[in-house]
This record gives sequence, C-alpha cells and structure tokens, in this order.
Amino acid sequence: MNSKLIAPSILAADFANLQRDIEMVNKSDADWFHIDIMDGVFVPNISFGMPVLKAITKHAKKTIDVHLMIIDPDRYIKTFADLGSNILTVHYEACTHLHRTLQAIKSEGMKAGVALNPHTNVSLLEDIINDIDLVLIMSVNPGFGGQSFIENTYNKISQLKELIHKKGASTLIEIDGGVSNKNIKQLVNVGADVLVAGSFVFKSSEPQETIKDLKAIANS
Ligand code: DX5
Ligand code: ZN
Repeated sequence: MNSKLIAPSILAADFANLQRDIEMVNKSDADWFHIDIMDGVFVPNISFGMPVLKAITKHAKKTIDVHLMIIDPDRYIKTFADLGSNILTVHYEACTHLHRTLQAIKSEGMKAGVALNPHTNVSLLEDIINDIDLVLIMSVNPGFGGQSFIENTYNKISQLKELIHKKGASTLIEIDGGVSNKNIKQLVNVGADVLVAGSFVFKSSEPQETIKDLKAIANS
C-alpha cells in the first residue's frame, strides 16, 4: 500500500514567523506544503497572493500543493507554475471549461487537481476523472481554517474511490478541512491518500510532533 501523505496547511501558520514555520515543516514528517489562495470572490475571505507564495517557495523543500479558491483560475496558471507550484488545484465550481483548464495546468509541467465543495457530487467527475491527477474533497466549506469536519465526507470518499477504480484512473484523493487525529484513520480507511491539516498542526503546542503523530496514525 502506498504511504499516506500529510500536507500541513500554511494558512494556519504564524505569518509573522513564516520562515520558522516553513523550516519546521521541512524538518518534520510532512510530505507536502498545502497553500491556500483565496480571492474574496469565490470564497468570502482573502488569504495571500503571489509575493507571499514566492517567499514560501524560497524556503520550502517539499512538494508545493497549491489550492486555488479563486474564480477564473486560467488567468494565473503560468504565474503559479513560475512561482514553483508542483500541484495546482482548481475548483470544479469555478471552471466552465474544466478539461481545457486541466490541460493548461499540465502543459506548464504541474500536476492538475480538482477541488469539490461539500455540496458538489463526485459523480460530476465521471467524464473527466482520467485527466485528473488529484481530487481535493472539501470537508468544510472553503474559505477559513478551524471549522468542523463535515461527516458526509466519508461517503464522498467511498464514491470517489469507486469511480477511480471503475475508470482505471490513478487519481489521488486529498481531504481538506477539519482533519485531526480523531478522523484521520477513518479517512484513510475509506480511501484518502493525502490529508491536509491546518489548525490541528499549527495550533498545537508541538507542531512537529503533531505531524509525526498524524503521519503515524494515517500509516498504521
Ligand atoms: C479552507 C482551506 C484549508 C484550511 C484547512 O478553505 O482550504 O486548507 O487551511 O484548515 P483546517 O485544517 O484548520 O480545517
Ligand atoms: Zn486548502
């Protein structure tokens, strides 16, 4: 079985000590940096933009997993590639021509991800799943860290796993929102491959230990 990956969400880091928190993730058992970009239109919040991402990628030594919560993401695909993104995830709900968007992401040398809001059914991906490297299932409504996990996520993961299997795709399943040591094992059991954790990591007293624990539980 492939090892399950942990992706700390930098949204929950201390922005006044960003380099310190990035070095902590570098040293930890984490696999990816999860970076949330919000535009205040697609979601009711603005996180940070290109200059901050540039500062992050300068120090980050692991895979850069960028989650775009923005409308019309096609405008910035090349910019995010140039800034060092390895995986670029767009929202299903924000893309009119999703197939074209995914091809554009791949042509810039990045892996292409599609995120689904809690109300978006996984069956909508049936005709495009073979073109997607990663599906990000939102387990909270996008826009803010620290919200509580939506239980229906387990059903969605099972359905998505079945779809991936049926279509012979090799798509990874990433879960984002409210992930903790309480639900991570069950998420993995139903099919999650990548677990994003923001508040649970950065608001803990020993973030590096917390990452180690999450990684151990996910792979136990
Ligand atoms: C929410 C973001 C998440 C967020 C997760 O819109 O996509 O990545 O940082 O934070 P927690 O783990 O605190 O729910
Ligand atoms: Zn995210």
